[in-house]
Amino acid sequence: MSEHRSNGAVPDHEHADEYFHKNPTPKSLSKHQALTREFIQYHLENSPNRRIVLVTSGGTTVPLENQTVRFIDNFSAGTRGATSAEYFLQEGYAVIFLHRQYSLLPYSRHYSHSTNCFLDFMEESDTNDGRVVVRKEYQDKMRRVLQQYQFAKQNRLLLLLPFTTVTDYLFQLRSLAVLMQPLGSRALFYLAAAVSDFFIPRERMEEHKIQSRDDKGGSQGSGASRQLVINLDPVPKFLSTLVHSWASKESMIVSFKLETDPNLLVSKAEQALKRYRHDLVIGNLLTTRKWEVVFVTRDGAERWLRVPKARRSKSLSGVEELVGKAERKHDREPVDLEGGTVTEGMEIESLIIPELALIHTDMIEHGK
Ligand code: PMT
Repeated sequence: MSEHRSNGAVPDHEHADEYFHKNPTPKSLSKHQALTREFIQYHLENSPNRRIVLVTSGGTTVPLENQTVRFIDNFSAGTRGATSAEYFLQEGYAVIFLHRQYSLLPYSRHYSHSTNCFLDFMEESDTNDGRVVVRKEYQDKMRRVLQQYQFAKQNRLLLLLPFTTVTDYLFQLRSLAVLMQPLGSRALFYLAAAVSDFFIPRERMEEHKIQSRDDKGGSQGSGASRQLVINLDPVPKFLSTLVHSWASKESMIVSFKLETDPNLLVSKAEQALKRYRHDLVIGNLLTTRKWEVVFVTRDGAERWLRVPKARRSKSLSGVEELVGKAERKHDREPVDLEGGTVTEGMEIESLIIPELALIHTDMIEHGK
């Protein structure tokens, strides 16, 4: 096995081994392994050409206490993952959806959380028979979503596996990659989860809720408030171990790179590809991620996929002026950012997934 070093000293896979040795195995792991084994077996037996994608989605938590009251989290709601899963199913993939518990799910995402509260789509029937019905204007879309959801369910095309902490996530990622080995080139890894880079190792973690005041009393008995200083260790970079040890050599591995500085995005994506030697990095900026992404490949290409201006959905956190700003224009023709007259919102994942499926087909047919 080739060695991949994170800091010039200890190879990444040794950091990974130590991490698994020192941190507790999640309780759900054996149940999730059994479900995955059954899912993969079912597809190997019933549709030997079926491709299976592992989509990771949402943020990971970093608990501050063993009996966890407080934790560190990140922004990801799982939109990228849940939306991509739907487009993968549309492309004929079976999907293992490894997601942060309570983040967005394929199909139900259209009718969940406060932005799409399901109650807003319903009303009492006007025929006074006591029935509750879907409002007229939403019937067509909901029927389509329902049909797609039922198709996925009836054909056992979607396996939902939740995680919460970064440790849950990593144990599951390792186990899923190993279970997917028999799929060979038909396995695709689509790593869209926002995985924490820092954590508190088990041996340094408080057992009980960290107290905000020192209430031991003493002569003043006032309970002085105190600062909370937390030392976090780096989470080992697992991508290298995934690529070189856990996953089949023939599988296709796609990671995401998130940045906030447009000047860094493409170079950081290139660095990741060089370091981990997987197949593709999809770069995105926090503020434009719903409208544009860049595919960075091993041949040095930088290919932007972009939703035409007229079809961009509104986003409170998005900054439209930054669209196009991370592009290294010196080696490309300027891209027409206008165009399109349709007003219906388009999801960037409707561009990403068909493109990926084509690259995957090419790898299956011609090897890597
Ligand atoms: O959920 P949304 O709100 O829709 O947002 C989607 C998204 C922005 C989260 C998604 O598109 C995205 O960019 N996900 C990856 C974000 C990220 O964690 O980037 P990174 O630069 O920290 O990590 C890059 C890669 O390294 C990741 O693919 C990850 O799998 C891998 N990694 C990360 C940490 C770690 N300890 N080991 C790793 O191998």
